[in-house]
Amino acid sequence: MDKGKKYLANTYNRFPIGIAKGEGCWLWDMTGRRYLDFLSGIAVCNLGHANKNVVEALTRQARKLIHVSNLFYTEAQIKAAELLVENSFGDKVFFCNSGAEANEAAIKLARRYSWKNHGEGRSEIIAMENSFHGRTVATLSATGQAKFQVGFSPLLPGFTFVPFNDLKAIERSLSERTCAVILECIQSEGGVFVAEKEYLKKLREMTQAKDILLILDEVQTGIGRTGKLFCYEHYALEPDIMSLAKALGSGFPVGAIVAKDRVMDSFEPGTHAATFGGNPLASAAVTATINTILEEGIVGKCETIGAYLLKGLLELKKKFPFIVDIRGMGLLLGIEFTTEVNPFVQDFLAEGVILYASKGNVVRLLPPLIIEKEEVDIFLEIASRVFERHHKK
Ligand SMILES: Cc1ncc(COP(=O)(O)O)c(C=O)c1O
Repeated sequence: MDKGKKYLANTYNRFPIGIAKGEGCWLWDMTGRRYLDFLSGIAVCNLGHANKNVVEALTRQARKLIHVSNLFYTEAQIKAAELLVENSFGDKVFFCNSGAEANEAAIKLARRYSWKNHGEGRSEIIAMENSFHGRTVATLSATGQAKFQVGFSPLLPGFTFVPFNDLKAIERSLSERTCAVILECIQSEGGVFVAEKEYLKKLREMTQAKDILLILDEVQTGIGRTGKLFCYEHYALEPDIMSLAKALGSGFPVGAIVAKDRVMDSFEPGTHAATFGGNPLASAAVTATINTILEEGIVGKCETIGAYLLKGLLELKKKFPFIVDIRGMGLLLGIEFTTEVNPFVQDFLAEGVILYASKGNVVRLLPPLIIEKEEVDIFLEIASRVFERHHKK
């Protein structure tokens, strides 16, 4: 840890733990202590740690071909794209390396589409207050939380912010210069706020009528996390562009945008690129991840076990008045407290459970989707103990 402090940029408040290995829903530190992982590397390890299919696919692919650039076709990349297209609203995929990069691509694609179809000057994007879309300059400019933007001015112009779940605010902000609306179905970094069904449905109709593109940032909600492969499926609608990353490669860094041909065809050779994007190794991770999720019925399992965890949490809420709200979908759940959450995070850690704070007095629960009922029971028992101690203070 001292060496880490000496050599690593000081951009994270790290837990004072060195993680040595992981298996399923469990992590081990360098002293051999075991932790129940309710964070999944921030919604990345949806298949848990050391998933056999992912490890084998990566190993097999690494022996064959790691990287060749996007100047060539590779079977691995085409397979990964086919899986994403055949299981979503989209027709085509652009691969990149992270969530921020996926949102960058989405912003560029929306502007390019508008430029091609509606001419110059229609480049503004409506984004949500309290949103999170990444740390690059463009995605930071699209992020509706001032605390992340301090000291990084000037940001990219062309973003207007409106309150989440407020259709009238969007209606008021739309203009002849608007080319897209970007939002998350669940504002996870913003404190776990879920988009209302009617709101998203009406927003879709409103944007469609004006050929304004709807960009859904599914970086955190995608790949089974909410009890559907993609969160938009809960809403019976289709976005124009969806951004993905995090769990897409089960921990191997990869991002993507998925879009209909009508939209994606605005990108032509030379308009956008990423050297590593969807390289054979990343693509092997994507294919193994999605195949495992589909073949092992993990989306359905997530819905069932998520409901079981939610039920247990609601029982705890009845007992402890300092729990204000429990919200979310599937295995993306937030517990809101009356007080600051760091003491809870530390207390859980002392009991061997890793979880993390979100904005406000909210603790986020993001266990691997493969979590078993017995492991949820362990968590609920520990939660009960932690809350009891807090109650007595
Ligand atoms: C909704 C959402 N979008 C984008 C990002 C940025 O992803 P990355 O850290 O891979 O750039 C995140 C990361 O937390 C996210 O939650």
